[in-house]
Amino acid sequence: MAGQKRGHLNKDGILIYEKQDFEGMRASGRLAAETLDMIIEHVKPGVTTAELDKRIQDYIESRGAISATIGYRGYEHASCISLNHVVCHGIPSDKRLKDGDILNIDVTCILDGWFGDTSRMYKVGKLSRKAERLIDITHDSLMKGIEQVKPGNTFGDIGAAIQEFVEGYRMSVVRDFCGHGLGQAFHTAPNVLHYGKWGTGPVLEPGMFFTIEPMVNLGRPSTKVLADGWTAVTRDKTLSAQFEHSIGVTETGYEIFTLSPAGKFYPTWD
Ligand code: MF3
Ligand code: CO
Ligand code: CO
Repeated sequence: MAGQKRGHLNKDGILIYEKQDFEGMRASGRLAAETLDMIIEHVKPGVTTAELDKRIQDYIESRGAISATIGYRGYEHASCISLNHVVCHGIPSDKRLKDGDILNIDVTCILDGWFGDTSRMYKVGKLSRKAERLIDITHDSLMKGIEQVKPGNTFGDIGAAIQEFVEGYRMSVVRDFCGHGLGQAFHTAPNVLHYGKWGTGPVLEPGMFFTIEPMVNLGRPSTKVLADGWTAVTRDKTLSAQFEHSIGVTETGYEIFTLSPAGKFYPTWD
């Protein structure tokens, strides 16, 4: 029933949802992914990030959903748009995109009470080789984390898989932000760390819904938040990238709720 809170807490304080709850996440996840597909053609030199945000808000609302970020802890926009050395939570503004930029666009929508949260990288014109490589490794690190999702594995396995993969390429995993449980709320237990030790942390169970959203830096992992209270940047000003999916644990593995219907999650379209 709409409006009713579903699921029960397990011994680690993590909500376990029922089989029928996957349908709500599928619908909201799909809408979030379609929003990120829609914006692809508008990401080009000269456009402002505020213009992109306006299109995102209009699209989400045209589909009978709302943005989860508008009004969230005082945030006023339908997306976070994080350019170059911005790690996450970049605020849409009148800054114009230019050739060689990389950016993450992160959207969360609420459809029939269910939260769909996803982000991916976009490229503007021709990139440096190291920027291309950063995007590749970050995308692949998310997929390495997702491969660990099955009942009986632990949250530490997800973090360890991501960290080992990223550090093998001499890049670094951001420690200051993490993934999170979600479902009928935006940010719930557990914190999903993108680093860690194999076999540690809560055990994964069917019916858990959460995000994995690694942020990877070319330089050091440390970040700082600017005076606007939101924009997180790399302290050493090196480039940063991020990809995010919302996921459910199934009896045998996982379901990704935020797959791109057009197959455009990974930016190979240009
Ligand atoms: N979508 C972000 C996440 O992945 C949260 C953004 S909160 C905002 O968890 F207020 F900055 F929009
Ligand atoms: Co998230
Ligand atoms: Co997000």
